[in-house]
Amino acid sequence: MFDTNEEESRRRFLQLVGIGVLGGWSLESWSGLAPPEPMPQATCALPSHGAATAFRRDCRPIRPRQVADRLTPAEVDQLKAAYQAMRALDTSDPSDPRGFTQQANVHCVFCATNDPALQMHFTWRFFAWHRAYLYFHERILGKLINNANFRLPFWGWDSGFRNLPQPYVTPNDATNPLFNSTRALAPGTGLDLANVGPTVINGVLTLGSFDDFGGTATASGTPEGNPHGTVHVNVGGLNGDMSAFSTAARDPVFYQHHATVDRLWSDWNKASPTHTNPTDPAFTGLTFNFFDENKVWRSITAAQVLDHENSLRYVYEPYRFWEQFICLFWRPFPIDWRLTRKIVIPRTNPALYKALSGETPIRFNVRGLELPRDRSAIYRIYASEAEAKADAGDKSPGFLGATSIVLNDPGNRHPVRGTQNVVLNVRQEVRATLARGEAIQPWVVGGGDQKTPKRSFPLRAADVLVAVGTAEQEK
Ligand code: C2O
Repeated sequence: MFDTNEEESRRRFLQLVGIGVLGGWSLESWSGLAPPEPMPQATCALPSHGAATAFRRDCRPIRPRQVADRLTPAEVDQLKAAYQAMRALDTSDPSDPRGFTQQANVHCVFCATNDPALQMHFTWRFFAWHRAYLYFHERILGKLINNANFRLPFWGWDSGFRNLPQPYVTPNDATNPLFNSTRALAPGTGLDLANVGPTVINGVLTLGSFDDFGGTATASGTPEGNPHGTVHVNVGGLNGDMSAFSTAARDPVFYQHHATVDRLWSDWNKASPTHTNPTDPAFTGLTFNFFDENKVWRSITAAQVLDHENSLRYVYEPYRFWEQFICLFWRPFPIDWRLTRKIVIPRTNPALYKALSGETPIRFNVRGLELPRDRSAIYRIYASEAEAKADAGDKSPGFLGATSIVLNDPGNRHPVRGTQNVVLNVRQEVRATLARGEAIQPWVVGGGDQKTPKRSFPLRAADVLVAVGTAEQEK
């Protein structure tokens, strides 16, 4: 299924290894994987507006966002009526910023761009901006059906609801305002466990710092690549709306997906008293703009979205099948990755050896992961080349995790900027290898579908650290 051309993959391998030995890992040298080329920006714009008015206190009742598959028939009717009304604005008044296409364009303007001043992905803006976007979207939907108690449901792939939510596929045709014809994921087929399974969800909910969870001023957090990006590509395939930022919000299930991403943030905050959001004014002062339910151009700050319950008037229905969180304190240890491009536990670190032989959870903190950026794709990471080639996913003992690349626009192969920081879970077999003093060279595979072969290559990253988790009270 992957690397059908053995000779080419061998050449690519040698090339990468050679480059690694020389220590130069520039993007230009990644010729075997089609380096991205600068392309024009996606074209989308918002209706004109004057200066923004500050967000006003919301005094509506606090209501739950519920799992879409658990809505009552009456609630499903409300949801469909709201999207029906939103879609109707597309024809009755295409310049109304509350229309469905205009709402999708918001995502196109702020997320399908290479202008770092606008782009809302790949940094700590990601969670805060998308929360605000969904909030205004939700208020518009409520206003259109005249229901102040309306709240967006959420997909719930974090809690075992892996299929497309029933209301979004029933009926599965254009008579349903929640339908989209470009989905690659068929109704009744679940999202991949490697992207939304318990290991992944528990893994992100126990990340130790906002840097790792939500990103920094210059890098994205772990969940942005997986599950966030992988679910985009799982739903959209290589070319569906969900697989590019310019078109993603044209699929109503986008908002379901992002409400689940938003709930992850909410749950991460609750999972430990140490899971706090940044207090740096560079973060809290981030200011975002949206049209509200009365077509007023508003500004809202990151500080104003942090307490979603009191400020934005919604909570998440508590519902999770497997949750069992312990407060962990993660201590990252440096290894010789920069020299060897392999994971070996330094002999000089008895603390790490001790942790490996015990029960303590171990993770790899990958900094500055590089991936080919010529197509929207899911990439899975394994502890060896052989396992990557077999690509058995979550079931494989050396499976370390997944991440993704989502392009700005299907016609815009210019990469989204930057590299990723990813935290990988390490299972028993892999720690046993490390405890024996053996080296691990992680391999990456992915980027294919029924028509396009997968490709595999050694993991490239600026640095890898080995993090050991201990229960906070033991510290
Ligand atoms: Cu702004 Cu999931 O994308």
